[in-house]
Amino acid sequence: MINEKLPKIWYGGDYNPEQWEADVWDEDIRIFKLAGIDVATLNVFSWAMIQPDEETYDFSFLDETIDRLYKNGIYTCLATATGAHPAWMAKRYPDVTRVDYEGRKRKFGGRHNSCPSSPTYRLYSERMADKLGERYKDHPGVLIWHISNEYGGYCYCDNCAAGFRNWLQDRYGDLDKLNKAWNTRFWGHTFYDWDEIVPPNALSEEWNGNRTNFQGISLDYRRFQSWSLLECYKLEYNAVKKHTPDLPVTTNLMGTYPELDYFEWAKHMDVVSWDNYPSLDTPYSYTAMVHDLMRGLKSGQPFMLMEQTPSQQNWQAYNSLKRPGVMRLWSYQAVARGADTVLFFQLRRSIGACEKYHGAVIEHVGHENTRVFRECAELGQELGKLSDQILDARVDAKVAIVFDWENRWAVELSSGPSVALKYVDEVHKYYDALFQQNIQVDMVGVEEELSGYDIVIAPVLYMIKPGYAQKLETFVKGGGTFLTTFFSGIVNESDLVTTGGYPGELRSLLGIWAEEIDALFPGHTNQIVMEQPWGALKDSYSCSILCDLIHAEGAEVLARYGEDFYKGMPVATVNRFGEGKAYYIASSPDAAFLQGLLANLCEEKGIRPLLPRSEGIEVTARTKDGRELLFVLNHQAEAGVVEAGETSYIDLLTDRTLSGAIEVPAKGVLILAQA
Ligand code: GLA
Ligand code: ZN
Repeated sequence: MINEKLPKIWYGGDYNPEQWEADVWDEDIRIFKLAGIDVATLNVFSWAMIQPDEETYDFSFLDETIDRLYKNGIYTCLATATGAHPAWMAKRYPDVTRVDYEGRKRKFGGRHNSCPSSPTYRLYSERMADKLGERYKDHPGVLIWHISNEYGGYCYCDNCAAGFRNWLQDRYGDLDKLNKAWNTRFWGHTFYDWDEIVPPNALSEEWNGNRTNFQGISLDYRRFQSWSLLECYKLEYNAVKKHTPDLPVTTNLMGTYPELDYFEWAKHMDVVSWDNYPSLDTPYSYTAMVHDLMRGLKSGQPFMLMEQTPSQQNWQAYNSLKRPGVMRLWSYQAVARGADTVLFFQLRRSIGACEKYHGAVIEHVGHENTRVFRECAELGQELGKLSDQILDARVDAKVAIVFDWENRWAVELSSGPSVALKYVDEVHKYYDALFQQNIQVDMVGVEEELSGYDIVIAPVLYMIKPGYAQKLETFVKGGGTFLTTFFSGIVNESDLVTTGGYPGELRSLLGIWAEEIDALFPGHTNQIVMEQPWGALKDSYSCSILCDLIHAEGAEVLARYGEDFYKGMPVATVNRFGEGKAYYIASSPDAAFLQGLLANLCEEKGIRPLLPRSEGIEVTARTKDGRELLFVLNHQAEAGVVEAGETSYIDLLTDRTLSGAIEVPAKGVLILAQA
């Protein structure tokens, strides 16, 4: 449990009373109670208020707010306020502001704006966390620490340049190794002194954010910046832990956010939390995948939904309202996939600056007679009724999909073969094929133990880290099914190509050689023609983006290309290896092929769908103390039906007993436990 003081799904969100006068504070509390809100996240952006100058700290407002909430049965998720530095700090200590990608020194403004290498930022952010820890260590109202806010963005200042050189010295020891790792004889880039190395941005090696002349330095700079921000987080983590060793600590992540290696970050978090802001057109299987990824960061441990909007965002191009029922549906989607909290940004809508049109539980009208509030209050009542039944429940998946940030950086920094190749999209294609069949998936990092899985899928495993090929071989030898795709096994950790034929270190496991890689223009496709019907796969399918031209070297050919000069060459293969099998899919297939393929693999392994597929209805499960809870989520605007068979279930939300063909209302949710 995240904190035993509140043994239910936490409900509430970001609360900014400092933006208001005292006359609304009691009214806030009255309305929160009507909604069943029991957690408020405080102090996220209050650094300038609690430290008005270098010497003065004033916690009186925070004291009063935490007390007032607590007296009214509302706990605090206490942020450390360091997500935006005060104006006085930027004026007095310019090292605190960043230098941007174009090389411009920033002035005061915005947020998430501090240089991670700034001695000033590090000193004062750590000190702030220390003071907060000291002050609130015994307050019964504080449930959890929320360090800073949505860490992100890179800096290219001189302090970061110096920090980068130190980091490189630790990583490589001597310049010879670095020169080799970055292949600096290319374009005569050999470094003879550490001082010659400058951060890769638009002033040096990069352009457009992720185009680079040298993948090696660009990759290392991402590692370094992710590490530097993590160092800042750890300073604060340790500062609060010193005072409150038993209070959990988190920081809110952003799903598939590209800039930080969240698997590394999660090692230093007691509980993962994240902010979920899908748009109207985000596929719901994509949101599901991101929840699964956030759960995977700590090997399946439940996570926190730290923020979502009750109704709309302000920062998208078109900020459509969540349709009636959708806020509830998406809240349960998070819970279904491992969230033990449902928290909003924000509780009361602000009146000025750029978030005044962002949805909130209390809207500008200021009272509770709104559609949005009614929906929030109904959900609050339901979460109260669910009590602790779902808390700590685990997801039991036999299929793992590998996700790796460093691999993603390398794929997306790559110059060629195609700008159309997007790592996250390729991962999502495989995820979606399983999702559509109600098969549970764990999203795992490369350090995860694989032996508990029957099937491991690693789309576009371009970078092979030391030992990973052996780990996969052990998994397959022992009977596991492994699947990987085109553009895999190509480079090592430094983005240096493994010579001797693609897919490099995976070659013997897969029993193939990829001789060439063809990039297809937008709208162009090739065909996947089955050698013979295989389970759910018959005839032919289409594929796009990249086509590896492969030779089977021991692998059995399942399908061949149907067009172009490589017509007849293998496009899908399987290699028997030890007790298991290793599949290679040499191009990016259409959804029909992937669904058939994954259905076949699951069939071979005896992995059954939780319930038979019903169009537009998501089914997933969490298990607690041997009791499986099936979440049935209807994403359609009309009612649907799931076939539950003979088993009789109780719906935890309505207490109805259900079996057979169960109707699920439009945008409706069922949580089914066996009766
Ligand atoms: C992020 C931030 C919040 C707020 C919301 C708005 O998630 O953490 O402070 O800006 O976005 O959607
Ligand atoms: Zn910097």
